[in-house]
Amino acid sequence: MGIKIIGTGSYVPDKVLTNHDLEKMVDTSDEWIRTRTGIVERRIASDNEASSDMAYKASVRAMEFARIKPDDLDLIVVATITSDRITPSTACILQSKLKAYNAACFDLQAACTGFLYSLEIVNALMSTNPTYRKALIIGVEKLSMLTDWKDRNTCVLFGDGAGAVILEKRAGKHDIGGILASKLASNGSYNDLIKVPAGGSAIPTSPETIKKRMHYLSMEGQEVFKLAVNEMAKACQDVLSRAKVDISEVRWLIPHQANLRIIHAVGKKLEIPSEKVYINVHMYGNTSAASVVIALDEIVRTGKIDRGDYVLLTAFGAGITWGANLLRW
Ligand code: UT7
Repeated sequence: MGIKIIGTGSYVPDKVLTNHDLEKMVDTSDEWIRTRTGIVERRIASDNEASSDMAYKASVRAMEFARIKPDDLDLIVVATITSDRITPSTACILQSKLKAYNAACFDLQAACTGFLYSLEIVNALMSTNPTYRKALIIGVEKLSMLTDWKDRNTCVLFGDGAGAVILEKRAGKHDIGGILASKLASNGSYNDLIKVPAGGSAIPTSPETIKKRMHYLSMEGQEVFKLAVNEMAKACQDVLSRAKVDISEVRWLIPHQANLRIIHAVGKKLEIPSEKVYINVHMYGNTSAASVVIALDEIVRTGKIDRGDYVLLTAFGAGITWGANLLRW
């Protein structure tokens, strides 16, 4: 028996913000951004487009793909750091937009690793509780609302978007694969490396926090870079060895799309040919929890995956959190 992905969907906003647009906003250049990050452009949600709106569009596409109705869903999990409101969860708001009232709904916060965490958690829930037969997982971010558009160190990096998958428990004798192995990890002693300092219970919002621009994402880029490469590569090796799959058998490595140099370095450490490493960071920048699942949907919809293929997902983000999932398609 396996828990299988039976549908995928994604959505990115229409508005494109190019490196040349950013040159007019901060002291940067297209050349610097391309060579240091690989990013060429990113998508930006409109003012009245919340995370749940992007999640809704990606979810509808995934449900159409899987040929299921909202009533069929038993679980909805939204991985995000940019929820519509502090409470209730974006998953509950999405539930009402989808009219999927048979589902239990919650959000999961593991930053850029959120989609990978959600896959493992939903896989475990569906494996142990027979009432969860079909689940919807979404990775969605409206990072543009956390971006300090005056800070060149961060504003060139992020973008908005959403990706969704439908999981189903399959028990047929021809049903191979599913989620073969997962590694989830965290090290909270690095919680200062990527953060939004104010707006939570530690430092509530005040006129002063707004004046000091404490509601935007800040990041120690170089430190994050080193940790990301090493930990993502190790997490991939861990799931491969536990599933007894060799890297040469993997059809696709889908790494978190934060920086092309990080992606190349992880691929090199794993000794996987570059044509098997999926890249779309040039189009969307870093969309945090949405990045891996948008990439997965692109692979599926362009027919670049076949039944039985091994797919290796890996991500790294604030917390710090990181992980890997090995899937068999
Ligand atoms: O999603 C969570 C995971 N996040 C990541 O994985 C991100 C990891 N980190 C990175 O991707 C990279 O560290 C960055 C892209 C954020 C930065 O690249 P870097 O090669 O580490 O650059 P740096 O921070 O060492 O900065 C080098 C120089 C500095 O100037 P000085 O001090 O050498 O004179 C920066 O001030 O580049 C300068 N700089 C810029 N210059 C032009 C920083 N941002 C910019 C910019 N345009 N946008």
